[in-house]
Amino acid sequence: MHVKNSEVTELPDGQKIHCLGISTSPRRNGNTSILLQRALEGASAAGAETELIYLNDYRFSPCLACDGCFKEGRCVVKDDMQLIYEKLLGTNRIILAAPIFSMGMCAQAKAMIDRTQRFWSTKYILKRDVIVDKEKRPTRKGMFISAAGSDRESIFDGSERVAKYFFLMLEAEYAGCYCYPSIDKKGAVLEHPEALEEVHGAGFALGRPQA
Ligand SMILES: Cc1cc2nc3c(=O)[nH]c(=O)nc-3n(C[C@H](O)[C@H](O)[C@H](O)COP(=O)(O)O)c2cc1C
Repeated sequence: MHVKNSEVTELPDGQKIHCLGISTSPRRNGNTSILLQRALEGASAAGAETELIYLNDYRFSPCLACDGCFKEGRCVVKDDMQLIYEKLLGTNRIILAAPIFSMGMCAQAKAMIDRTQRFWSTKYILKRDVIVDKEKRPTRKGMFISAAGSDRESIFDGSERVAKYFFLMLEAEYAGCYCYPSIDKKGAVLEHPEALEEVHGAGFALGRPQA
C-alpha cells in the first residue's frame, strides 16, 4: 500500500465544503471507481456535499496545442471540457481517481489534464490567479486515487507526479495519494477491506471543514 498524507489547515467558519470526485477509468464501477465512491462516502460522512462524475460520460478532444488559451486563459475548443472546467473551478475538494494503464495514468485522465493547459497559461503566461474568488474557495485541496495490477509500488510514481501537477495548476493543495498495487480484476478491490477503509478515512479527513 502506498499512502502519503498532507498537512491540514483551517477553513474559515461557514465555509461550505463541496467535494468533486472524478472517475476516469473507462471501466464503470471498476476498482478506482469503487475506491472513489468510498472516499466520497467518507467526505459525505464528514458533512461535505459530494458529486461524482464519470469522465467517460463527457465527450472532449485531447489538447490541440493551438495556444488559443495564451490570450485569455480560456480554452477555445468548445466541447464537454467546458462543463468540466466549471466543475473544477467551482469546488473546493477534488478527488481524481485514475487506474494505471501502460505504466501511467489512463489516457482519459491524461487527456483531461492536458486540457487544463488553460490554467497553466493563466498562471504562467498571463500571470493571473486561476481561482479569482479566493474568499469563496480559500483552501482548495486535491487527492489522488489509483490502482494497478502490478505489485510494484513504484508503478504509481509517474502518475502521482502528473496528479500533483494537475492540482498545482488548479491551485489546490495536494492532499495525498492513495494508490493500491496488485489490484487487477474488476471489483478485486472489494477483497481489500483495509484499502476501502483507508480511502474512506482519507475522504472523511478531506471532507471536514478544517481538512
Ligand atoms: C489497457 C490497460 C493497460 C494496463 N496497464 C497496466 C500496467 O502497465 N501496469 C499495471 O500494473 N497494471 C496495468 N493494467 C491493470 C489495471 O491497472 C488494473 O486492472 C486496475 O485495477 C484497473 O482499475 P479500474 O478497474 O479502475 O479500471 C492495465 C489495464 C488495462 C485495461
